[in-house]
Amino acid sequence: MYDVKNERIFLKKTEIPSIQLEDFFVGAKVTILSRSMKVTDYGDVRTRQRFETFRARTFAMIKPDSYANIGKIIDSIYASGFEINKLKMSKFNKQSASAFYAEHQGKPFFDNLCNMMCSDVTVGMELISTDAISKWRETIGPTNSENAKREAPSSIRAKFGTDGTRNAVHGSDSSVSHKRESDFWFGGESPADRPMQTTAVMDNCTLCLIKPHILKEGLAGQVIDAIIEAGFEISAMEIFNLSRPVFEEFYDVYKNVLPEYLPLIEHMTNGPMLALEVRQNNAVTAFRDFCGPHDPEIAKHLR
Ligand code: CMP
Repeated sequence: MYDVKNERIFLKKTEIPSIQLEDFFVGAKVTILSRSMKVTDYGDVRTRQRFETFRARTFAMIKPDSYANIGKIIDSIYASGFEINKLKMSKFNKQSASAFYAEHQGKPFFDNLCNMMCSDVTVGMELISTDAISKWRETIGPTNSENAKREAPSSIRAKFGTDGTRNAVHGSDSSVSHKRESDFWFGGESPADRPMQTTAVMDNCTLCLIKPHILKEGLAGQVIDAIIEAGFEISAMEIFNLSRPVFEEFYDVYKNVLPEYLPLIEHMTNGPMLALEVRQNNAVTAFRDFCGPHDPEIAKHLR
């Protein structure tokens, strides 16, 4: 690696045990000798062809009828071998639900579908895996949850769906749908081009950050499930990739106080993390108590 700015070699071929082959994909951030590097492209066409099929994408939603099962469904997503690249909780209104499901306008179930989709929050996600579109549709099972229970009992709709409309989850049916649906949920630079806004209320709440190592190890679903089971409401969720300067500002109060300040910043900027807005009476105290001591070894002994 050549350091263009300082006009000298930055890195010769060398082993860096903290980084694995799976850490290298376009858009990933890796820390090499304390420098955060972003992988921007493949080195050549052959490498692109070899690896891109493993990183296909699809758009998925956890629908309002499955709010209580968000954690369990996210756990199934990881257990089925997907990576969650983007995630945002949002809420449909009549206009956005009709636009998202435009192809079903005029069908007998359309009004029922829109009412259900507007009834509570929805979690939209971009998933990555080999053959993501067909693999996700297979993982969720037939559209009608009753058929799913008969024909694919281990599918997500069989486990968490109720009927033809309240079927727990959605999955794109083609790469064209994935592009349209993913843009609908995540796209648009200005708020006016972005119909699906965050559901954060910023009131009687606290912030929970699920750290990058938990997302990497596929454990985020279990953490979310524990939060819901403990009676907290999750009123907003979003995956963020924060840059080092942003994080340094965020954790400024810990500078020169916390001995682990630098490794903490390095870890938090090393990959995506999941931010949750969590609500309950006395949310800040109640949630800190629920989390336990900050050192996991001490936590294991005391709580
Ligand atoms: P989804 O995969 O989100 O795509 C369209 C949705 O419409 C579907 O899941 C169901 O929620 C709903 N739907 C599709 N077909 C029917 C049907 N025959 N009766 C009731 N609801 C349906």
